Amino acid sequence: MVKPILKIKNLSKHFALGRGLGGLSLGGEKLLKAVDGVSFEIARGEVLGLVGESGCGKTTTGKMIVRLLGPTAGQALFEGQDVQRIPRRGLSEFRGAVQMIFQDLDAALNPKMKVRDILAEAVRLGERHTKQSLAKRLRELFSMVNLKPSKLENYPTSLSGGEKRRVSLARVLARKPRLIIADEPLSALDLSIQAQVANLLKDLQKEYGLSFLLISHDLRMVELLSHRIAVMYLGRIVETASAAEIVRRPGHPYTSALWTSTVARKKGAKVVGQLRGDVFELERPDEGCVFRSRCAVYQKKGKPKQCRVGADPELRQVRKGHSVACHFPLGKGK
Ligand SMILES: Nc1ncnc2c1ncn2[C@@H]1O[C@H](COP(=O)(O)OP(=O)(O)O)[C@@H](O)[C@H]1O
Ligand code: SF4
Ligand SMILES: [Mg+2]
Repeated sequence: MVKPILKIKNLSKHFALGRGLGGLSLGGEKLLKAVDGVSFEIARGEVLGLVGESGCGKTTTGKMIVRLLGPTAGQALFEGQDVQRIPRRGLSEFRGAVQMIFQDLDAALNPKMKVRDILAEAVRLGERHTKQSLAKRLRELFSMVNLKPSKLENYPTSLSGGEKRRVSLARVLARKPRLIIADEPLSALDLSIQAQVANLLKDLQKEYGLSFLLISHDLRMVELLSHRIAVMYLGRIVETASAAEIVRRPGHPYTSALWTSTVARKKGAKVVGQLRGDVFELERPDEGCVFRSRCAVYQKKGKPKQCRVGADPELRQVRKGHSVACHFPLGKGK
């Protein structure tokens, strides 16, 4: 088997919390298990979508992969190397090879610098250039993200949301990354611009064979852009499968509810039923399945004991390439 570009093994991040904020009590200290034993792989040239409601641990997972946060336990291996153990002399290369695009459109763009200088700075971190070759490289980067060269003279504040997103993409591409962690890359954009940027991401991925971890709360968007999808719920991966399979035959009751609510919201309908409640306010039970307070199957089956006792269910294969963490996975789809 070809080695994955990224392998996540039992990655966890637990935050210590003040009293009264929920979370688990451990030796008097409250812990929030933001990411809790997450494992997955991304193959070279693959787009893995990581989807789940706000607060389920997606950004925290991304930050551990790019080494902005250290894990409480577990490892993120990039091209076989534990990112936490990359020596100082290898860090610059790593920061070019694995990059994160943040949800906040202004995060990576210094408002006091012209777009030209922002990009030039990124290019120079990885390449030596003469004045002429640098100008050529900047034009090349702009054409990769479909921006007019005249915009190079702008300051970020005078750009539209879509243009800022394109500049942040060009800035990432300047370092010739092999893996991009894109955290909600479309969510700050107007609906009309979202499709354009989604297409751009798709084209770039194909043309340059990039590997992506595509983070989003929007299952529909993730389905359109990903080869495979991992569904996350309160710090755990509850389902993984190909994008088509996840949508056609969801195995976890949460995935099914997420899809129903996504489609309903897109159609402008009021979301009723399964996904009520805000994940930030939910109790995280010490025992049993953490999804049960919102699970339709749990209710329908009369609150079975398997869901209430023992550990949270582990991911188990239900079909080739399709794993579900549920004692009663959905059978033949909807
Ligand atoms: N630095 C931090 N300190 C304490 N709690 C945090 C911190 N960062 C994130 N969290 C909490 O961890 C959980 C997961 O957050 P996050 O990874 O941002 O989720 P998502 O990206 O899926 O919305 C949330 O409950 C969030 O409040
Ligand atoms: S294990 Fe039980 S509570 Fe959890 S998702 Fe499956 S059916 Fe629902
Ligand atoms: Mg996030």
